[in-house]
Amino acid sequence: MSLIDIEKDTFYHDYPVLQRKVQDKKLIYLDNAATTQKPYSVINKIAQFYQMQNSNIHRSAHSLSAECTLEYDNARSKVAEFLGGTLFNEIIFTKGCTEAINLVSFCMEKKIQKDDEIWISPIEHHANILPWQRLCKNTGAKLKIIPMNDQLELEISTFEHLITERAKLVAVTHISNALGVVNPVESISRICKKVGALLFIDGAQAVSHTKVNVKEINADFYALSGHKMFGPTGIGVLYAKEHLLNEFEPYQLGGGMIEQVTFHESTFAPIPYKFEAGTPPIAGALGLAQAIDYISETRYDVILQKERLLYDAFMEMCSRIKEIKIYGHKNPHHHIPVFSFNINRIHPHDISTIFDSYGIAIRSGHHCCQPLMQILGVPATARISFAYYNSISDIHIIEEAIKKSMEIFIK
Ligand SMILES: Cc1ncc(COP(=O)(O)O)c(C=O)c1O
Repeated sequence: MSLIDIEKDTFYHDYPVLQRKVQDKKLIYLDNAATTQKPYSVINKIAQFYQMQNSNIHRSAHSLSAECTLEYDNARSKVAEFLGGTLFNEIIFTKGCTEAINLVSFCMEKKIQKDDEIWISPIEHHANILPWQRLCKNTGAKLKIIPMNDQLELEISTFEHLITERAKLVAVTHISNALGVVNPVESISRICKKVGALLFIDGAQAVSHTKVNVKEINADFYALSGHKMFGPTGIGVLYAKEHLLNEFEPYQLGGGMIEQVTFHESTFAPIPYKFEAGTPPIAGALGLAQAIDYISETRYDVILQKERLLYDAFMEMCSRIKEIKIYGHKNPHHHIPVFSFNINRIHPHDISTIFDSYGIAIRSGHHCCQPLMQILGVPATARISFAYYNSISDIHIIEEAIKKSMEIFIK
């Protein structure tokens, strides 16, 4: 497909919600880092499950249950293949990325001792800070922060000098939800292996933009959320190496994760079921598997090319507006089209309100990255986060909305 064809075919016809209007204007959805839209195929799959298949899994011998159990297991196999050919046993379904991080931080507690170190980066989402903060408080371990340069990219060579064998785990985001910067996870992985630290990667923002192979990265853990990759809410994935899952004790207890129960003793099912207590998110898993099929049909090379077009067009438009400050993005090749920005002293909520009057949905606030906002020296930013189904014509309307914001608020 040529670049011209990619722009002409905006893919947006696959997404029903993108056909609607807001404020009597065509909806321009640019809040994809918060959640992506869902294509018809995912919506239809979930509707079909509830209309024709709905039953619980792993519990009954009846046909509906057997059918759903098979599909649920197939969804797990699909995720395993999607992440680079991992084992079926290494994929745990959770309710989202946040739960996957909490699961690992809870299970790690027994492995961490006083004065051990957990490293995170300064650009983490709160979901990848708070669980490690609590782990450190409960164990006496120290939370250390990877240094960052003034281009808002991690200083990997300094980090390599600072980290020692006291480090037991490094938890970093693959791609920042606030800055759009892609972290060099392969280099971080190599450094972790040198000192014997485990590597946890928060992949919430990565999988809708780039092909991920957890085996090539050699990640010990990788977490994602279905709703940020064109799938449903309420489903997430934790990938973890088999031997780690076998060593961990279960995170939650209940039905579905047991082998034998008496009043005083219980034994647990093997992985992955040991980590899926209670009725799992069945419709979510089926919807996620459908989203993976959808991404595979669309192809990552097409997504990447389209996003590069959007990236360049947006940066070119911003280069003509001296009042706009974009955080980071000094090196386009280290970034996806997710931009945090401010316009002079206009409050980001005001920017977002003006944008809304043009039908443009963007996010304003701290983006669950308050420590990063403290480094930037601002309480909040406005954020535009593109997906491949956005189009160049959207950028012309963004430009109009920026100019209107300046007209109203900069006297
Ligand atoms: C980088 C990152 N990590 C984790 C999360 C948490 O994801 P969820 O709310 O789907 O659990 C988000 C959500 O915005 C995110 O952007």
